[in-house]
Parts: sequence; structure tokens; C-alpha cells
Amino acid sequence: MTLRTPTMADDKTHFGFKTVNRNDKVGMVAGVFHSVAGKYDLMNDLMSGGIHRLWKRFTIELSGVRYGNSVLDIAGGTGDLAGKFSRLVGPDGRVVLADINESMLRVGREKLTNQGVAGNIEYVQANAECLPFPDNSFDCITIAFGLRNVTDKDAALRSMLRVLKPGGRLLVLEFSKPTNEVVGKVYDRYSFDILPKMGKLVANDEESYRYLAESIRMHPDQETLKGMMEEAGFAEVRYHNMTAGVVAVHRGIKP
Ligand SMILES: C[S@@+](CC[C@H](N)C(=O)[O-])C[C@H]1O[C@@H](n2cnc3c(N)ncnc32)[C@H](O)[C@@H]1O
Repeated sequence: MTLRTPTMADDKTHFGFKTVNRNDKVGMVAGVFHSVAGKYDLMNDLMSGGIHRLWKRFTIELSGVRYGNSVLDIAGGTGDLAGKFSRLVGPDGRVVLADINESMLRVGREKLTNQGVAGNIEYVQANAECLPFPDNSFDCITIAFGLRNVTDKDAALRSMLRVLKPGGRLLVLEFSKPTNEVVGKVYDRYSFDILPKMGKLVANDEESYRYLAESIRMHPDQETLKGMMEEAGFAEVRYHNMTAGVVAVHRGIKP
């Protein structure tokens, strides 16, 4: 099931439930993340009850990243995954934390530096749709809770495929479609009634958290994203649902 309506004009896209000009979306998404950057980590813990840490841990386990590997964490934001990868790859490895948004990158860089993560990590401002790295650069790429914000997801998947080494893995961790009707209903109430209020209370920003809830509903479901990854050229694409499909991690290999 794809949620992009077939009648939508090519110059239009979704920003949450709104239909907007494709060229405007990147600036609107930038507005959201400039606004939430300072409270991003706190809100993540509050909104998920800390469970996002388990989703990320499972993603790291699935990544198979080892000592000496080269890893790109695109849309890496405040660096939860990049920090863990930095320790896993060691001094002979390389981690690139890339994000389109300078506020998120700044918060990520400060946090990881304060945690003593240094030496094998670089910070790069980049758009997932056109990654500024040579072909065949990375053993593994992760994009966690980032793909749904990208305007041209197909271009981003092709760009990630290009910069992966043959045999390299892409992991997409993203909100998805609950597999259980009851969970789906509770989750709907939670995200549309409670999340924006929590955003207002904690981050003084109701709108960005309404966008969060809406963008999750507009994101391709598990099977659609699997098809998009295959279409982009990934092989052996599989996904694992977590928390009854509220979140899924997709993995594909560059042939
Ligand atoms: C919800 S945050 C996720 C941050 C981090 N990966 C995590 O899991 O906590 C989404 C991130 O995607 C970034 N982003 C949005 N569009 C992007 C794009 N086109 N290219 C790269 N990063 C993008 C945002 O700036 C933001 O930092």
C-alpha cells in the first residue's frame, strides 16, 4: 500500500497531512528540527518511555558492524547510533554522522564529544537524497527515524546504495504500521491526543509533534518500503517488526 495518492501532481508532496510544493518541504522539515533540537533527546525518552533505546540497540545488533568498519549514520541527528558505532569500529574504523540540519548536528556533536566519542568520527551536513561521498565508501549505512522526513525517498535509497560497498548493509529504522488493531487504536489516540500536548508542555512546540504523528501515518508501511528498497536495487530485503509494528527495521544488502 502506498500512501502517496496517484492523483498527486509531481510537484507536490506530503508534509504530515498537508499537501505542499515539493520544493517547500525541505524548509518545513528544517523548521521542525531547528525547533526541537534542544529538547530532542528528552522528548524521545518521554514519548517512547525509553523504548527507542531498545529499537536502536536491535538495529545495531542487526547491522553486523565490526572493528575497522566504515559506517554512515545519515539523518543521524543527536548521534545515538553514531556514538555506539564509534565504539564498535574502534580507532581503525570510521563513522560519519550526517544530517541535513545544522541544529541537530550541533547538538549531536556536543553530546558525543562530552561522552568522549572522538577520533574516528566526522560530522557532515548532507542531504540523504544526494550524499557527498564517493561510490562504494561504507560497509554499513543506517537511517533511523529519518527517511519519513525526506522528500524524495527513492532518490535517497539510490544515493545510499551508491555509497555502500558491494555486500554492505543498509538499515532503515522507522515508524511503521501496527500489526495489531487494538495497538493501532491506542497508538492513534496517544499520538494525536497526547503527543502534541506533551510537545507543548516540554518543548513549547505543539505543531512539530503534530507533524511527527501525521508524518508517521503518511510513511510507507512495511511491505511498501520493502518494495521501494528492492526497486532501488537492494537485495535480500527483510524487515523485523518491533513493538507490534509501531516500529520496523528494514535491512537490505548492496549486491
Ligand atoms: C527524528 S530525527 C532522528 C535522529 C536520529 N537518527 C535518531 O534516531 O534519534 C530525524 C532527523 O532526520 C534529519 N533529516 C530530515 N531530512 C533529511 C534529509 N533529507 N537528509 C538528511 N537528514 C535529514 C533531521 O534533520 C533530523 O535530525
